[in-house]
Amino acid sequence: MPATLLIGAQWGDEGKGRVADWLAADANVVARYAGGDNAGHTVVVGQKVFKLHLIPSGILHSSVTCVLGNGMVINPVNLVREIDEIEAMGVPVTPDRLVISSRAHLITPAHVALDAASEKARGADAIGTTLRGIGPAYLDKTGRQGIRAGSLRNEEELADMLYRMVERANPTVVAAGLAPLDPQKAALDVIVAARRLQPYIKDVTEYINTRLKTGDRVLCEGAQGTMLDVDHGDYPFVTSSSPTAGGALTGLGFGPRYVDSVVGVGKAFSTRVGSGPMPTELSGDLASRLRGTGENFWDEFGTTTGRPRRCGWLDAVILRYAARVSGFTELVLTKLDVLSGFDELKIATSYRVDGHEVSMPPDTLAQLERAEPVYETLPGWSEDVSRARQRSDLPTNTLRYIQRVAELCEVPINTVSVGPERDQLVHLS
Ligand code: IMP
Repeated sequence: MPATLLIGAQWGDEGKGRVADWLAADANVVARYAGGDNAGHTVVVGQKVFKLHLIPSGILHSSVTCVLGNGMVINPVNLVREIDEIEAMGVPVTPDRLVISSRAHLITPAHVALDAASEKARGADAIGTTLRGIGPAYLDKTGRQGIRAGSLRNEEELADMLYRMVERANPTVVAAGLAPLDPQKAALDVIVAARRLQPYIKDVTEYINTRLKTGDRVLCEGAQGTMLDVDHGDYPFVTSSSPTAGGALTGLGFGPRYVDSVVGVGKAFSTRVGSGPMPTELSGDLASRLRGTGENFWDEFGTTTGRPRRCGWLDAVILRYAARVSGFTELVLTKLDVLSGFDELKIATSYRVDGHEVSMPPDTLAQLERAEPVYETLPGWSEDVSRARQRSDLPTNTLRYIQRVAELCEVPINTVSVGPERDQLVHLS
């Protein structure tokens, strides 16, 4: 069976891009199924650092076709910019290499303005969104007044829909104290992008099913992470889509019988960007050590927004939950190199909530906010593991840490990453 799902096990930023880049070497198609340019994947190939927001990292493999599925929300102006940037770095992004679903929804300038207005109106309760217009675009989709990518093929109809959308948004934008949008300019920017994107638009459900039927391997690359899932994450501090396994099927339009593996990606510690509960969050020196200084692109600062990420010990409760929600067949643990030099390392094995010990995150925000992590302490390691390429290169305490994480989330860990470069992976078996 030819489909692999790749899912973030925490709050996003787990290093899915680099894992996808590795798995893409065996794939014919790499498809994104949810979210939009709120995502940021960094992939390093030799001297080149690719920062991808919409286009799957599979584009860096010349034999792979990339797909943007119907479950996504796509900002056409930003997509054109990303295509141009990648092409300027020597990677062709022609319509035979990138397919955009005619059923994906568009993020328009109205959505971007509404995102800012909504965050401003929430004040202290702001979600801390990426301000890319994600929430408002999904709101229009489910409210049945969105614009789909198929409309990029009909400029007149598109202009009319964009114009009306801006006029609908402007009172809310103005009420939040922001400047109203000029509907004509907003429509023109999108139409210029539409002309570039028309050749890329296809019926992706038909495309994916045809490829799957012929036995081609499809890698479904998740964005964000389980705890940001609109159903399974810590609502309302979530994104507006379904980054978990179910989202891959609805977001591309194929059936579960094609799926043979569900690979979770978890970072060796916890990070979160934006508001919301994070039981193992650290402050002070420990947090700074995990975060890094920001001098390196792999330090814990948002790829999309540049915001410093909140950092904390590994939370096995979250990983266990993510494994359950998506049915992980294995977990890839990333950024183990960052843990070098800690005398000891803590892992949250359960939470104490209102006097009870629980092994899964509670299902209400109020309880999750009250959850106190129950920690297990493991010995750290002082060795630099970034040059490890095989199991025998890893210190005993690193292997012990990996083994314990696998036991705690009840999923095998066969691969870990020890740095951002393509070859900084260790296959354990
Ligand atoms: P939105 O997706 O921009 O609406 O943001 C909703 C929440 O998800 C915020 O807390 C964001 O910081 C978070 N978020 C969205 N995309 C990502 C991502 O790719 N990595 C990490 N956090 C994200």
